[in-house]
Amino acid sequence: MGKQFFDTHCHLQHEAYDQDLQQVLSHCQEAQVDYMTVVGWDYPSSLQAVSLAQQYPGRIFAAVGVHPQDCLTWNAEIAADLFALAQKSCVVAIGEIGLDYYRDPSPKEVQAQVFIEQIHMAKELQKPIIIHSRDAHGPLFDIVKKEAAAQFGGIMHCYSGSVEMARQLLSSGWTISLAGPLTFKNARQLPEVVNFVPLDRLLIETDSPYMSPEPLRGKRNDPSRVTYIAGKIAEIKGVSLEEVANITTQNAKQIFHIV
Ligand code: NI
Repeated sequence: MGKQFFDTHCHLQHEAYDQDLQQVLSHCQEAQVDYMTVVGWDYPSSLQAVSLAQQYPGRIFAAVGVHPQDCLTWNAEIAADLFALAQKSCVVAIGEIGLDYYRDPSPKEVQAQVFIEQIHMAKELQKPIIIHSRDAHGPLFDIVKKEAAAQFGGIMHCYSGSVEMARQLLSSGWTISLAGPLTFKNARQLPEVVNFVPLDRLLIETDSPYMSPEPLRGKRNDPSRVTYIAGKIAEIKGVSLEEVANITTQNAKQIFHIV
């Protein structure tokens, strides 16, 4: 058996792929990126994620949710529609959800309320959550602790925290997902995080079209480049690329309940 990669977080429904999605998907196939989770950031993009998952069953899976920066789109009707959408079997997680206090944030009380409502949704549906946290780790952890949010699986997307924070997350059952910043020259503490976190608690992702890894930094990203993240992990941990690919794929299948 060859290598199999699972990009656990990409946005293939983004307009950046409007012209060449087919080509991007065949590159992924050549790169042995056999699985991907397409993640929503608001209701329309969640709907598009589901439609892609339905077009490519067994290969593309969907996560649906409203991102903190889009929290002002939230209302009772969207909540009900999202809940209905989230029940579909191709929806493997609720996300991306969380808090974002970077630069010009949406009102913090609204972010918290929309985040909590979606945590409740995930718990009711017994699905894992995919968390976006930017400049908001303190308040975010207060919420996830109080809500026991990782009860059905919790993924810290595009992890950028310290080893100490990773230690705390692992002990409360979270899974850590690594993206392009691991490959950046100024990655600082991320290589230490990789050293510390056991391979069976790691996921890999691209966050495409954003976060392109070195040496392609700044260009449009796509899921085939998740192999760069895996390569960096293999290098740091001193294991084979095949081992990183296959274990992180198993981890993803387990947390998303894919058989
Ligand atoms: Ni994302």
